[in-house]
Amino acid sequence: MLSLFKLLFILSTGTITFASPSRRPVDPPLLKRDNINPSFSNPNAEPVGIVIDPTVQRDSCVTSPTLVNGRSFWLCRDTDKLTNEDITTINPFIVHSSAAWSNMTSSGPELLPIPPASQQGNTQLTYNYTSQLLQYPPGYTKGGYVPYVVGGDECSNTFGDPGTDCAPTTEVIIYPNSPAYPVASPSGSTFMALYEPIINTTNTANDNIECSLYFLGYNHSSNLTTLPTISLWKEAFFPKGAYCYGSYGGIVNEVDNYLYLYGQTYNRSSTALARVPLNEYLNINEYQYYYNNGTWSNVQPHVDDADANLNGQFVQPATPGVPAQGYGQGTFFYSDYVGRYVWLGQTHFEQWEPGVQVGVSTSANPYGPWTAAQNITLLPHGNPFGYSSVVHPEMSTNDQDVWLSYTAYVRLNDTNYYTQPLYKFEWSSSSASPGL
Ligand SMILES: *[C@@H]1O[C@H](CO)[C@@H](O)[C@H](O)[C@H]1NC(C)=O
Ligand SMILES: *[C@@H]1O[C@H](CO)[C@@H](O)[C@H](O)[C@H]1NC(C)=O
Ligand SMILES: *[C@@H]1O[C@H](CO)[C@@H](O)[C@H](O)[C@H]1NC(C)=O
Ligand SMILES: *[C@@H]1O[C@H](CO)[C@@H](O)[C@H](O)[C@H]1NC(C)=O
Ligand SMILES: *[C@@H]1O[C@H](CO)[C@@H](O)[C@H](O)[C@H]1NC(C)=O
Ligand SMILES: *[C@@H]1O[C@H](CO)[C@@H](O)[C@H](O)[C@H]1NC(C)=O
Ligand SMILES: *[C@@H]1O[C@H](CO)[C@@H](O)[C@H](O)[C@H]1NC(C)=O
Ligand SMILES: *[C@@H]1O[C@H](CO)[C@@H](O)[C@H](O)[C@H]1NC(C)=O
Ligand SMILES: *[C@@H]1O[C@H](CO)[C@@H](O)[C@H](O)[C@H]1NC(C)=O
Repeated sequence: MLSLFKLLFILSTGTITFASPSRRPVDPPLLKRDNINPSFSNPNAEPVGIVIDPTVQRDSCVTSPTLVNGRSFWLCRDTDKLTNEDITTINPFIVHSSAAWSNMTSSGPELLPIPPASQQGNTQLTYNYTSQLLQYPPGYTKGGYVPYVVGGDECSNTFGDPGTDCAPTTEVIIYPNSPAYPVASPSGSTFMALYEPIINTTNTANDNIECSLYFLGYNHSSNLTTLPTISLWKEAFFPKGAYCYGSYGGIVNEVDNYLYLYGQTYNRSSTALARVPLNEYLNINEYQYYYNNGTWSNVQPHVDDADANLNGQFVQPATPGVPAQGYGQGTFFYSDYVGRYVWLGQTHFEQWEPGVQVGVSTSANPYGPWTAAQNITLLPHGNPFGYSSVVHPEMSTNDQDVWLSYTAYVRLNDTNYYTQPLYKFEWSSSSASPGL
């Protein structure tokens, strides 16, 4: 299946049309303006619903930043059956990645009333909510959605579980932390790029992590339950010693037709930026790397090269040395309303905080300078904690709306579950771009 998409891609590179049209004003995208600190008019909003596939529980779900043929496309990390199984004691263990669709309407996500227990069952996670955004098709694929490199040096088994078949010293795990970026939509299909860190958990030095590029293809004539095909394009596309660009976030910039890709060191010490023309994303030679003297270069920096650090204040280390992998995330996007590039995500993870701290940082350019992150809302912890706060730019049908979800890890009757509350925030009118 992949080869068809690959072939199509190669044959059609000259006539590619780009993913969904921009709603962005056509003012110059790289214009310098004063940075501002936007706020929400409803920072204390209650969740509008829960994101759920009633047959499974998932954590750390992100969505592609533009709709894929009219729907939101999810990638999640840990995924398991939703029974009374505890996520900490499940055997066999959890699938490390899964994918799903959600329906959209003309006013945003398709929020439906939660059906009676007799119809849907598994009420453990829905009882606090009146509405749900369904993820479908139901269930998940054994082995996970993002394939391991079979026969290579990646540890692999049917559940994608490094702990079961693989010695701890060889385990290499894959977690999607960032969405698949829709890069092209030729001939009734959507092509997406996914950048995945490959981590050796016995040696998580910043320069021991390699980054694989996956190719996703979705045929718009497929039935509603078919997920995009996914295949490895190249293992170690960004090799050990480089940043895993795209795994900390990315912007499909329809103004200059570049894909901007953010990478962060495993210990969160620095964040760097690369870009590639949207139709060249498979070609490593077309990538350019940003240096903080204000230049783009074809020379790929080492993760310890201070000149590549954007010096953005995105996720703060919760505890020095605690890796970002489990707790990070956040979303880079362009806000038409604010008139700025925005990073919105969780700045603090500590359980002793009063809740899940979500911060915002803005910039006139993808490369900064980024403002110091300001706290913008405090979401309730799960029971006991919450993480992976992310924005879903593609769900906004109104530039002022900001749809956000996170993982509230809950313990109920001595059983641990993942839940995904969904919020609808609105930028305050004082956050509006002077151009609006
Ligand atoms: C999604 O929308 C389609 C119609 O486009 C509908 O048939 C389907 O039932 C919806 N699925 C869910 C899970 O809401
Ligand atoms: C917890 O257990 C009690 C007693 O078995 C039961 O009544 C209650 O519904 C359970 N709560 C949840 C959220 O499952
Ligand atoms: C429901 O809300 C209560 C009170 O805030 C919380 O303790 C519990 O974890 C929530 N349960 C779920 C499944 O979200
Ligand atoms: C993981 O790291 C350990 C320690 O550096 C090393 O012995 C092992 O070979 C590595 N595994 C893989 C698959 O690279
Ligand atoms: C998409 O599916 C339709 C119907 O099966 C088929 O005719 C078409 O060739 C497919 N397109 C691609 C790009 O695979
Ligand atoms: C949808 O298409 C897939 C193949 O892509 C097929 O396996 C499945 O049976 C189809 N489902 C329906 C409801 O037609
Ligand atoms: C910017 O920094 C890079 C990396 O250190 C260096 O190679 C390049 O020459 C510098 N360019 C300018 C104009 O200073
Ligand atoms: C992160 O790793 C770099 C080396 O890559 C090191 O210089 C820095 O001190 C580390 N930072 C933290 C917070 O551990
Ligand atoms: C944001 O909240 C955190 C945690 O509560 C606090 O430590 C930090 O000082 C706040 N940041 C700002 C800029 O107010």
